[in-house]
Amino acid sequence: MEYQKDIDIEECELVYPPSEDTFLLLGALSVARGERVLEMGCGTGLISCHLSAGGGVLVAADINPRAAACTRANLDRNHLPGEVVESDLFSNVAGTFDLMVFNPPYLAVDEEGTLERAWAGGEEGMDVLAPFLREARTRLRPGGRIVLLLSSEMERRALDLALDAFARRRLASRRYFFEELWVEELRSPRPQAVP
Ligand SMILES: C[S@@+](CC[C@H](N)C(=O)[O-])C[C@H]1O[C@@H](n2cnc3c(N)ncnc32)[C@H](O)[C@@H]1O
Repeated sequence: MEYQKDIDIEECELVYPPSEDTFLLLGALSVARGERVLEMGCGTGLISCHLSAGGGVLVAADINPRAAACTRANLDRNHLPGEVVESDLFSNVAGTFDLMVFNPPYLAVDEEGTLERAWAGGEEGMDVLAPFLREARTRLRPGGRIVLLLSSEMERRALDLALDAFARRRLASRRYFFEELWVEELRSPRPQAVP
């Protein structure tokens, strides 16, 4: 999905601003008109605005009330439809989805605070992503997909374990001086034919 300069985004205090990871994830996304789409951890709402503009029936969620308000304001500024909820993962999110998108907090650090929550993923970088994936599996519509931004900062063994339940496909990657970021698409594996 191409970045659209005519979508007007205002950043908000104590909300993760659109960054390299945001744009890498955005570039790997595609949405079909009418698909039910969830952006978990919507931040400023740049990705949510693009998903809505692309015809997705959007639900955007963030644990940070300032992020939920920021996404609401950016959708409204651009006259784009979408539901926005303040939610700790799926606690206030109902229903099933064709596409779920998450740029999770992935740094392997323990830090607390409204803004720190945007990057602090606990000891292995998996504190938020692992429970997200456990619930997301049950919220996928048939043929649905989850698209994640991932980082070499996450503990690889813990990451592979959490992704083990899915069929995985790498959509994009970029190497930086100190880390690699990549985007993966996850789908429910087809049931194996019984011999
Ligand atoms: C790396 S930022 C990504 C923001 C935005 N999607 C982007 O790509 O620019 C991660 C976001 O996840 C949110 N977040 C962290 N823990 C969460 C949780 N348990 N439930 C929902 N959102 C969470 C943070 O508040 C933050 O806005």
